[in-house]
Amino acid sequence: MEQGRDRFRVTGGRRLTGTVRISGAKNAVLPILAAAVLCPEEVVIRGVPAIRDVQVMLTILRRLGVRVREEAGLDGLTLVLDPSGLSTAEVHEELTREMRSSIFLMGPLLGRVGWVRMAYPGGCAIGPRPIDLHLRGLQELGAHLEEKGGYIEATATRLRGREIYLDFPSVGATENLMMAAVLAEGTTVIRGAAREPEIVDLQSFLCAMGARVRGAGLDVIRIEGVRRLHGAEHTVAPDRIEAGTFMAAVAAAGGDVKLENVIAEHVEAPAAKLREMGVWVEEEADGSLRVRSRGGLQASDVKTLPYPGFPTDLQPQFMAVAAAAMGTSVITETIFENRFRVAEELRRMGAQIKVEGRTAVVKGVPRLSGAPVTAPALREGMALVIAGLAADGVTEVCGAHHVDRGYERLEEKLRGLGAEILRV
Ligand code: UD1
Repeated sequence: MEQGRDRFRVTGGRRLTGTVRISGAKNAVLPILAAAVLCPEEVVIRGVPAIRDVQVMLTILRRLGVRVREEAGLDGLTLVLDPSGLSTAEVHEELTREMRSSIFLMGPLLGRVGWVRMAYPGGCAIGPRPIDLHLRGLQELGAHLEEKGGYIEATATRLRGREIYLDFPSVGATENLMMAAVLAEGTTVIRGAAREPEIVDLQSFLCAMGARVRGAGLDVIRIEGVRRLHGAEHTVAPDRIEAGTFMAAVAAAGGDVKLENVIAEHVEAPAAKLREMGVWVEEEADGSLRVRSRGGLQASDVKTLPYPGFPTDLQPQFMAVAAAAMGTSVITETIFENRFRVAEELRRMGAQIKVEGRTAVVKGVPRLSGAPVTAPALREGMALVIAGLAADGVTEVCGAHHVDRGYERLEEKLRGLGAEILRV
């Protein structure tokens, strides 16, 4: 992030055309980086997006004694991590506060070191985000937990595999427990597991290091514990949320864009929604995804669900699209309690949105109008940029640092498609 330049200035009304390359997935790379501490040898991770959350995770890893080498390439960063010198399993509050994903270190540190001490995690303010499923699962694997002064301490001489049932398919808890179970004694079965593609990517990386994990992508995951892992190389899967975000941007602004480095199956839910709204989305012969929109979109209802349902991480961006569509869309958020905070900001741009509990009723208006707005969080900030692209006049989105947590070179990518966006 460029210090002090925390606003995007977007001039609306430009159609988006050309090709954009999607980066490696933020939500895949964060658990993968945490999983690296399980390994006593060097691991190489390619296709890593240069985003702020990755930098925070690398800072945490360095403080734990992991040696990190970063090489910038055409396709994101290549990271060479050497966890052989891991010297502590304590993660301080100033680091966990920055990023909720620091919780991912709990399982792997416990697995490798048998001890971990960590402050309660922070991150995006989207409703209360408890970690009870993570903690309960670790306890079931035999960890002894103690909570003192905002810190959680967990110990286990060696975790023991067993059956765990998750009451809700939490993405993070599934990943944390998979990582904890890799070096445990015996077999762990996670039932009611989340099925997100990022979990499949984590399984690939764990297996590349010699772990015995199968079932990711289904709701039962089996992990046979092994004694030791070995060095490995892995390329991070494409970011389906970044892809869905660009699809929403093209839908709202109008245009004709080719998305490269996308797995079409991973964006089926948002693609189906956009087709319903009148956007043309097709997979090309070369595997890229082409998105065409002439504007004049129809309203459509959206309900967020665990994968393969519509992702909550695209809900705010689709609210921006619905705000400029014809007719009334009902948006239902079933994953997070407090994820409609962008509605208030969109209203400043002329959107008509009524929020009641977990439902937002969005009555489309013919044109949004540019206004100064503030990003409450990552995806919400992106929704405001999208609204700005579709609006008349100039929109200034304050809080670019939220967006930098999860989008690599956003202005550059959008400008490459003909958008008028500056960081000021
Ligand atoms: C991950 C994603 C995030 C996405 C979310 C849902 C990463 C780094 N982040 O977050 O971008 O929005 O999945 O797709 O991958 N819950 C509990 N107890 C727990 C854990 C979760 O009640 O111990 C609840 C949460 O409050 C929330 C729901 O379960 O209501 C889903 O959370 P979860 O799937 O765990 O999301 P994250 O892994 O935090």
